[in-house]
Amino acid sequence: MISVKYHGHSNFQLTNGDTAILFDPFFKGNPVNTADPEKIDCNYICVSHAHSDHLGDALSIAKRTGATIISSFEIAMMAEREGCNAHGLHIGGKHGFEFGFVKLTPALHGAGIEGGTACGFIVNFFERIIYFAGDTGLFSDMELIGRKHKIDYALLPIGDNYTMGPEDAVEAVGLLKPRTVIPMHYNTWPLIAQSPETFKKDAESKFDCTVKIIIPGGTIQL
Ligand code: NI
Ligand code: MN
Repeated sequence: MISVKYHGHSNFQLTNGDTAILFDPFFKGNPVNTADPEKIDCNYICVSHAHSDHLGDALSIAKRTGATIISSFEIAMMAEREGCNAHGLHIGGKHGFEFGFVKLTPALHGAGIEGGTACGFIVNFFERIIYFAGDTGLFSDMELIGRKHKIDYALLPIGDNYTMGPEDAVEAVGLLKPRTVIPMHYNTWPLIAQSPETFKKDAESKFDCTVKIIIPGGTIQL
């Protein structure tokens, strides 16, 4: 059974049996997280960029569990210097793993690390195609990502201020054409307070998709 658990902000955990991938594992200091990072078990950790609300607890979890950090080359090198297992990729590149593959997509955002770039991920997880946008503004090449990959689940930021707001995220849905959308990167702090219900209503009325709102700590089956 394939499931995704939301730890709040952009922190998700994809699980299928013994295989688990964390995305942007921001636990400590995340006001909406309910999980104990010391108890998290995973095999892989995808890190979209090195801002502290995304790199989060990646290094300590990777050291404790032996999980492989999958990220852009600069972050992967830094993780290896810290003593973690890591696999570096770069924008447009993909690599096969036991669960499927990971491909790095562009993201319009800061890298949080010298010489790097922020990214998103297309992940084939046991034949489910997941697009994790990372922190990004709206960009028209999302249309290309949607044309190339039949996206089952798009994880899109809606918080505004640092990333797309809800209106641009609705526009992104039109470009990506995902079957299901899961909003993220909102209501962590007052500065990114948004109504996911309004985003759901707008996106579903404009495009043929389902928006699934997950409460932090909640899990859905994929
Ligand atoms: Ni950021
Ligand atoms: Mn962020």
